[in-house]
Amino acid sequence: MSSAFRADALAGKNVFIAGASSGINLGIAQGFARAGAKLALISRTPERIAAAAATITGAGGTAIGIAADVRDYAAVEAAIRQAHDTLGPLDVVISGAAGNFLAPVVGMSANGFKTVVDIDLIGTFNVFRASFDHLNTPGASLIAITAPQAVNAMMFQAHACAAKAGINMLIKCLAMEWGPAGVRVNGISPGPIADTEGMARLAPTPEVEARYKARLALRDYGTKDDIADSALFLCSDNARYITGTILDCDGGSKLGDASANALKTT
Ligand code: HXC
Ligand code: NAP
Repeated sequence: MSSAFRADALAGKNVFIAGASSGINLGIAQGFARAGAKLALISRTPERIAAAAATITGAGGTAIGIAADVRDYAAVEAAIRQAHDTLGPLDVVISGAAGNFLAPVVGMSANGFKTVVDIDLIGTFNVFRASFDHLNTPGASLIAITAPQAVNAMMFQAHACAAKAGINMLIKCLAMEWGPAGVRVNGISPGPIADTEGMARLAPTPEVEARYKARLALRDYGTKDDIADSALFLCSDNARYITGTILDCDGGSKLGDASANALKTT
């Protein structure tokens, strides 16, 4: 369990999380539930999101799971309205749905590129835009899950790099426009996180995983709890003056190659 969480740190808070049927976003949901939050979770697949909500209710927490594709604005809007009707105005909205695969641009169709941009970038616009009229303001906090790819070019990741770069700028524009309404908008940029679909796709063998770790300043993958802790901080009163920023929780990923190989001359 994440050490930073007090059992009542999020008591009375209503939290909506998109892309919460697995991985990092489910980890945030579970951490937030332990801290007393009431949750509405969405993803595309009815069985997967129902199972995710059940892991929380089964552990004594409060969660509803709603099937909605973030590419479908009407579906997102309906899910957010259902969350508001069930839980009350939303204190925290987290947009973390994403799709990814390794492919060179010449191995990627226009639809392959568009699919990732639609899920990651357009999906984040849809979730945040639809949530605006359902927020508990002033004091609401929005968090987008971005990635180091937003600022570091990466081979075979043109779609994800472009989509996450767009998310980083969307965060800043929304922070400007919605700050006067008492809404803070920030991002978390996770580095490689253990036991996730993302790393299963980007580092599918032990050899690639070892090379990934060797290039990191902190030499290891992070955990889902590391990201949950970052999210808890960003939506807490301790971060009340922070908006429009990206919190890198990445073991130094964004710094570049920290392996000794980077300086070898022979
Ligand atoms: C090339 C591919 C491909 C691949 C799919 N496509 N996989 N192209 N190489 N490996 C193409 C398809 O051929 C199709 O184009 C288009 O993408 C859409 O594919 P569909 O299968 O129809 O799309 P859909 O069912 O909507 O699925 C979306 C998906 C899928 C992104 C393709 O992988 C998915 O559902 N992913 C969700 C889970 C996920 O990816 N989790 C990891 C997130 S991690 P054509 O032209 O044939 O129609 C992450 C890590 C970031 O973001 C950073 C880590 C450091
Ligand atoms: P994951 O388990 O595959 O999580 C992705 C989630 O998005 C799933 O719940 C998936 O559920 C949902 N989803 C996908 N397409 C959707 C759509 N169209 N509409 C609604 N929901 C959709 O992957 P993860 O590795 O934990 O990644 C989670 C987030 O962290 C992503 O934003 C990713 O870019 C980011 N990230 C991950 C890493 C890492 O190391 N893993 C590093 C940096 C950033 P369904 O299939 O049920 O729809």
